[in-house]
Amino acid sequence: MRKIAVALSKGGVGKTTTAVNLAAGLALAGQRVLLVDVDTQGQVTKALGVQAMLGLADLVTGETTPAEALLPARERLAVLAGGRALAGLKRQITRRDFGGEQVLAEALTVYEDQFDFAILDTAPGWDALTVNALFYAHEVLAPVSLEVLTLQGLIEFGTSLAAIQKYHPALHLAYILPTFFDRRVRKSAEILEQLQSHYGEQVCAPVRYSVRLSEAPGYGQSIFEFAPHSPGAEDYQALVERITRDDRA
Ligand SMILES: Nc1ncnc2c1ncn2[C@@H]1O[C@H](COP(=O)(O)OP(=O)(O)OP(=O)(O)O)[C@@H](O)[C@H]1O
Ligand SMILES: [Mg+2]
Repeated sequence: MRKIAVALSKGGVGKTTTAVNLAAGLALAGQRVLLVDVDTQGQVTKALGVQAMLGLADLVTGETTPAEALLPARERLAVLAGGRALAGLKRQITRRDFGGEQVLAEALTVYEDQFDFAILDTAPGWDALTVNALFYAHEVLAPVSLEVLTLQGLIEFGTSLAAIQKYHPALHLAYILPTFFDRRVRKSAEILEQLQSHYGEQVCAPVRYSVRLSEAPGYGQSIFEFAPHSPGAEDYQALVERITRDDRA
C-alpha cells in the first residue's frame, strides 16, 4: 500500500481539495483508496457529501472496530473521518511518555492489505497529529499556492520533514503540487519557475485556479462528479496519472 500524506504547514494552499480529489480520482481509476482525515476541521466528509458516526479518533482509542470505523464514501473509496473528536486524541497523544508519534501508524496497520493507497489530509501548522501522519506516510505531497511567495515556507517545511526522516527514513517529499495557477498573473508563473528550478522533477504539473474546485465541496461532490470537464478535473486527473505511473508501492 502506498501511503501519501498531503501536507504543508501553511494554511489554505489546497491540501483538503487535493486529498479529496486525488483520492476520488484514484478510486475512479480502479485503485482501492483509504482517505484519512487527520484534521480537526473535519472537511473531508462534507466535501464528499457523507456523514460519519465514527472515525479515526474512535479507531485509535479502540472504541470501535477497524471495519466499523470506515465510512464507505464511493466505490473503492473509504473514509476515516476526522473532525472535533481528534482534539481529544491529540491531547492523549501529547500526554504520552513515549511512542506518541507512532499512535496513528499502529492503528492504521490493520488496513495494510485492504487498500492500494492511503491518502492523508493534514491540518495547517505543525502539531502532534501531523507528526503522527508523517510517521505513518512514506510519501509527502506538498501543495504549494502560487498566489503567495511560498518557497521559504516550503524550505522550512523540508527542514521539519528532515527531523522526522531521522527516525522514519522511508519518508520523503515525493511531490510538490503547485496550486492556484493563473496564467494571467505574472507572479504565478514566476513562483512556478522558482519551484521548478529549486525542486526539478518533484514538481508536478500545476492545478489551475478554477472556481469549480471551490464550489464542488458545497455540493458534496468531487470535481470529477461536479464538473468533469472543468480545468480542475483535468488537472487532478493529470495528478492521478502521474502518481499511478510512479508505482513504487
Ligand atoms: N485550484 C483552486 N482554484 C480555486 N479554488 C481553490 C483551488 N484549490 C482550492 N481552492 C479553494 O481554496 C480554499 C482553500 O483550499 P483547501 O481547503 O483545500 O486548503 P487547505 O490547505 O486544506 O486549507 P487548511 O490549511 O485550512 O486545511 C477552499 O475554499 C477551496 O475550495
Ligand atoms: Mg484543509
